[in-house]
Amino acid sequence: MDRLSLVVLISGSGSNLQAIIDAIENGQLNARLSAVISNRPDAFGLTRAKQHNIPVISLDHTKFARRELFDQQLQREIESLRPDLIILAGYMRILTNDFIYAFSPKILNIHPSLLPKYQGLHTHQKALDNNDHFHGVSIHIVTPELDSGPVILQGKFTIEADDNINSLQQKAHKLEHQMYPLVIQWICEQRLDLDQGLPVFDNKTINTPLLLEDLTDVH
Ligand code: GAR
Repeated sequence: MDRLSLVVLISGSGSNLQAIIDAIENGQLNARLSAVISNRPDAFGLTRAKQHNIPVISLDHTKFARRELFDQQLQREIESLRPDLIILAGYMRILTNDFIYAFSPKILNIHPSLLPKYQGLHTHQKALDNNDHFHGVSIHIVTPELDSGPVILQGKFTIEADDNINSLQQKAHKLEHQMYPLVIQWICEQRLDLDQGLPVFDNKTINTPLLLEDLTDVH
């Protein structure tokens, strides 16, 4: 089977992008990166991509009068690449419904909370403010309602008394870098099917998210 073709959308540092690049380069992920697209020209993730000879597209959202116009251009750019999957990796813009419908259900997002808890921004602060004992990250299919699509996989960790926003972000990143390549590889191997309304993993519908720590086949 051909390698799955990915387009990764970023807005910032791109450490998740880096984890995907590394997983491809070390043979853990049987995919190829058709392009990395950023809505911010100064995103460090673009530099990461260039260092690995991955085509980059910088689409500065501030140059567009309306969100719809930006997303229409984004859609045209992506359609010309004909990717199998669109990976949101720290892409910090709300997508229009038209864009989402154009590619649904082939858009994945990674979000730094145990969804449905803490949709939107400042998730680490919210977990601290609520004195949560646990926090984590979720990978989900993107649907029009923000951070509300079916969750595929979650990773969970304990919040310690001395944790702060930075330490929670580090813990979240550590899990994310393991989880995103894993989930994409499941799609490459056709173990994970996104086309059935709810995600289906190993022929079982995912009604409640898979939990990273419960998986026996993670190396
Ligand atoms: C990640 O922690 C990701 O979960 C979060 O942004 C960070 C990007 O880091 N995404 C969101 O908050 C989306 N709502 P990275 O640029 O280093 O990959």
